Amino acid sequence: MKKRILSGMRPTGRLHLGHYFGVLQNWVALQDEFDCFFMVADWHALTSEWKNSGAIPGNIRENAADWIAAGVDPEKSVVFVQSAVPEHAELALVLSCITPLGWLERVPTYKEAQQQLAEKGVDNYAFLGYPVLQAADILLYKGDVVPVGEDQLPHLELTREIVRRFHSTFGREIFPEPAARLTPTPRLMGLDGRRMSKSFGNTIDLSEDLAEVEKKAKAMFTDPNRKKRTDPGNPHICNVFSFHGMLNTKERHATIEADCKAARIGCVECKGELAGRMLDWLRPIQERRAALLAEPGKLDRILEAGNARAREVAARTMKEVREAVFKSR
Ligand code: TRP
Ligand code: SF4
Repeated sequence: MKKRILSGMRPTGRLHLGHYFGVLQNWVALQDEFDCFFMVADWHALTSEWKNSGAIPGNIRENAADWIAAGVDPEKSVVFVQSAVPEHAELALVLSCITPLGWLERVPTYKEAQQQLAEKGVDNYAFLGYPVLQAADILLYKGDVVPVGEDQLPHLELTREIVRRFHSTFGREIFPEPAARLTPTPRLMGLDGRRMSKSFGNTIDLSEDLAEVEKKAKAMFTDPNRKKRTDPGNPHICNVFSFHGMLNTKERHATIEADCKAARIGCVECKGELAGRMLDWLRPIQERRAALLAEPGKLDRILEAGNARAREVAARTMKEVREAVFKSR
C-alpha cells in the first residue's frame, strides 16, 4: 500500500514562484509514489483574513486552478477544500484539549506574526490555535509525509508532539508521526533578494501576464559587487543564478557559473536568457489554466469529487478518534 501525503496552502492570494519551487513542485513529483490529499486551507486563511473574508472564495478557485495547471492531477490526487469537511474542526477541538498553551506560544511563527500582522487582528483565539488545526488536517488523513516550505517545520514538529501526547493520553496508537518533505529550494528569494513573499511585493505569479514576467526577470538584482561588464561575478550570491538552477539545464547552469566567474557573460544577457526560460516554462502552465477555467463547472466538479473523497476518509478517522477518547470500543 502507498504511503499517504496530506498538504495544504492557504487561499490568501495568487500563487507565485515561491509556492511552486518551495512546495508545489514536490506535490506534482510525489503523486505517483504516494496517495495524495491536497487541501485548500480556507479555515487557516480565515484565522488571519477574517476582516476580509469575502476574498477567500475567489482565492480558493484561483489556487486550485493554479495547482492543476502546474501539474497536480485530480485523477491521481484528491484536491479538496478544508471547510467542506467539518471533521477538521472537530478533530482540532479534541487535539486542542491535549495541547498546552505553552507549546503554542513557543511556536516561532506565532510571535513573528504578532509583530508583522498586528493590523489583521491575529491576537485572536483561532490564530493561536493555527498549528492545532494544521495537526488535525494532517492526522485526519493519517499523513505520513507532508511536503511543505521551510517555514512550516515548527508546525510539523508540534504535530508530532501532539501525536505522541494523543497516544500516551488515550492509550491507542492510531496516527503515524508525519515527516516534512522539502524541495531543493525550500526558501525562494524574490526579485529583490529578500524572501519571495506577497507582502514584500517581490513575486512573480504563476498566472502573471508574460510581458510583465519578462520585464520583472530582466530587472532582477544580481551580484551587487559586479559593477562593470568586465568585472568577474560571483554567481553564488546572485539570485538570477539560482533561478537558472531551477529553470535551465544542469549543463547550462554550470556553464553560466564558469562564464560569470570569468566575466565571459554579462548580467543583461544572463537575465535575458533567464526571462526566456521563464516564459517557456510558464506558457504551458497558463494554457492549461485557461483551458481548465474555460470549461464551465469543471473546477467545481473536481472540488466536489475531492471533497466527497476527503469526507469519507475523515469520517473514518473521526470514528476511531471518538472511540479512543471515550473508550467506547
Ligand atoms: N500552514 C500552511 C501554510 O501556511 C498551510 C497548511 C494548512 C498546511 N494545513 C496544512 C500545510 C496541513 C501542510 C499540512 O502554508
Ligand atoms: Fe548573476 Fe548572471 Fe550576472 Fe553572474 S552574469 S552576476 S549569474 S546575472
